[in-house]
Amino acid sequence: MIEEILPPGTVAVDTVGEFPPELLFAQERAVVRDAVEERRREFATARVCAHRALAALGRPAEPLLPGRRGEPLWPAGTVGSLTHCEGYRGVVMAPAAHWRALGIDAEPHTPLPPGVAEAVTSPAERERLRELARGHPGTHWDRLLFSAKEAVFKAWSPLTHREPSFTDAVLEPDPARRTFTARLQLTGPLHDGSPLTAFTGRWTVRDGLILTAVTLAARPHRPSPALP
Ligand SMILES: CC(C)(COP(=O)(O)OP(=O)(O)OC[C@H]1O[C@@H](n2cnc3c(N)ncnc32)[C@H](O)[C@@H]1OP(=O)(O)O)[C@@H](O)C(=O)NCCC(=O)NCCS
Repeated sequence: MIEEILPPGTVAVDTVGEFPPELLFAQERAVVRDAVEERRREFATARVCAHRALAALGRPAEPLLPGRRGEPLWPAGTVGSLTHCEGYRGVVMAPAAHWRALGIDAEPHTPLPPGVAEAVTSPAERERLRELARGHPGTHWDRLLFSAKEAVFKAWSPLTHREPSFTDAVLEPDPARRTFTARLQLTGPLHDGSPLTAFTGRWTVRDGLILTAVTLAARPHRPSPALP
């Protein structure tokens, strides 16, 4: 499902089913040994998706363990992102030579619980959400904005080794193109010699889910110089 919002050159693997924990490496099973059943199940299924993505990149299998802040430690030379919500688990991976950062998120396509939108948006974003709801009533824009910020977090956090907060980016969805821009409200990580000012991403709504994806190419595309 999520491949429809990811660019060529990335590998997406997702499922609405479950894979058994027996398919994990012992070190991976140990990560969630004391977790509740639902956490063990989501972890196992998403990790198996990641193993398959790694294989599709032609890389040998290895345990995919979490770092200190919970971020997956992708094998050297690769980048990736992972998400799970009720009824869905997905992963995207790509060669680091072509992609600097990836972030994906899945959420149920339902309104956010009361009070959450106020906590994760600025007054200007809330005004924009009201406008979008009037103009495009079929989409739960508050949930979409939340999901996009989660995807931004997953792409951004590994680049900075700090955890951006919800107000560190202002989200601007484009309903016609199903894209969004996240304008960074603080100095972004250096990218191609200058501080990054924004992440861009895409979204889709299908089968009761909102899926969002943020991608940052390793080098911005520049037109080739004209031949003399
Ligand atoms: C970490 C966080 C993004 C996870 O999102 P979520 O919707 O709760 O859960 P998801 O299932 O979609 O994603 C969970 C996965 O995120 C990944 N993840 C966790 N921390 C991460 C980090 N620092 N960097 C990148 N990926 C991370 C992990 O792979 C995790 O799954 P796993 O533990 O099974 O490996 C969320 O809990 C959080 O802290 N959000 C704050 C977001 C924020 O402040 N955004 C503002 C930026 S504009």
